[in-house]
Amino acid sequence: MKAYLKNSWYMAAWSSELDGGALVSRRLLDIPTVIFRGADGQATALRDRCPHRFAPLSRGKLDNGVIECGYHGLRFDETGQCVGGFFPGTGSSSIRAQSFPTVEQDSIIWYWPGEPEKAEIALIPRFEYLSDPAYKTIDGVSLVSAYYELITDNLMDLSHIEFLHPAFCGVLQAAKHSAVRDGDTINSNWWAPNVPPTGAIQLWWPDNNGRIDHWLDMRWDAPASMLLHVGATHPGAAREDGMFQPSVHILTPETEDSTHYFWNAGMPRDNRLDMQEIGRLFALSFDEEDAPMLEAVHQAMGDADLFDLDPLLLRIDSGAVLARRRLRALIEDEARDSAVYKAPHRTAEESHS
Ligand code: FES
Ligand SMILES: [Fe+2]
Repeated sequence: MKAYLKNSWYMAAWSSELDGGALVSRRLLDIPTVIFRGADGQATALRDRCPHRFAPLSRGKLDNGVIECGYHGLRFDETGQCVGGFFPGTGSSSIRAQSFPTVEQDSIIWYWPGEPEKAEIALIPRFEYLSDPAYKTIDGVSLVSAYYELITDNLMDLSHIEFLHPAFCGVLQAAKHSAVRDGDTINSNWWAPNVPPTGAIQLWWPDNNGRIDHWLDMRWDAPASMLLHVGATHPGAAREDGMFQPSVHILTPETEDSTHYFWNAGMPRDNRLDMQEIGRLFALSFDEEDAPMLEAVHQAMGDADLFDLDPLLLRIDSGAVLARRRLRALIEDEARDSAVYKAPHRTAEESHS
């Protein structure tokens, strides 16, 4: 069985998914979770299980920020506290649904499945373009039948574009790749100077004059939050003089065999392209090109860990390998800490035996 990093921020939903008083029910790290806005509008994540007869709370209804269980009517606020019910004896303050620390930032609902006292907001990676009025954006979420680290591999090693999405690239064979760790962040970057425009750049920036300096910079933070900056300039020009296209790629395991892939594509607001069309291309290339390959790889690997299968590692794998190693180290640290925390204290007598 694979271990998840528990003391970490995971994406639970896009802010927009909670519009209109929605109850979003999603299995996250194997735990059914319900995400909604409380009476004050603050986003919250509760275990999607009523403490009475374990009915999914998401089968109830949201009334002014309070969930009423659809089975016998217990009512829970955004903290998980029971605030009453239809029948007598349901007003006790000891009745609670499990709640998770939840934060809304950059149009993303983050939740913390681990020890609540360790949930520091400063640990959440930033995706600032999502709230920058200079950009227009479109987002989505796909459910993929593959373990989430396989999708991290796919994103941290964009060499696959040449084979899975050949219409969009064609220059990476001649590009320089670097993978660098900076604290808990890994950067996996491609730099292709003075190359013909790729299919994607031709679409996004038709005024490219036929030659470009081109880059694809991917930033990873544990457990699986990635920010991609794709850009192009006229050869030799400063990056800020060219075009720039940011995108978000965040993975939250649903189970060991499936992953929620949250994506967002941004474009400078003055770009003429229609975001619905960009979103359609984004979803199509992932759902029809990446996902089938990732699901086939997942099937081929069974439940084995990549490193346990002694894979052939190429230079193009360096970003993905750094991310996997960092995540594995964090999970091992967490297991060690919790073993220390849980170890029963030895008695004085045992200590001297
Ligand atoms: S199961 Fe929720 S009130 Fe009974
Ligand atoms: Fe891809």
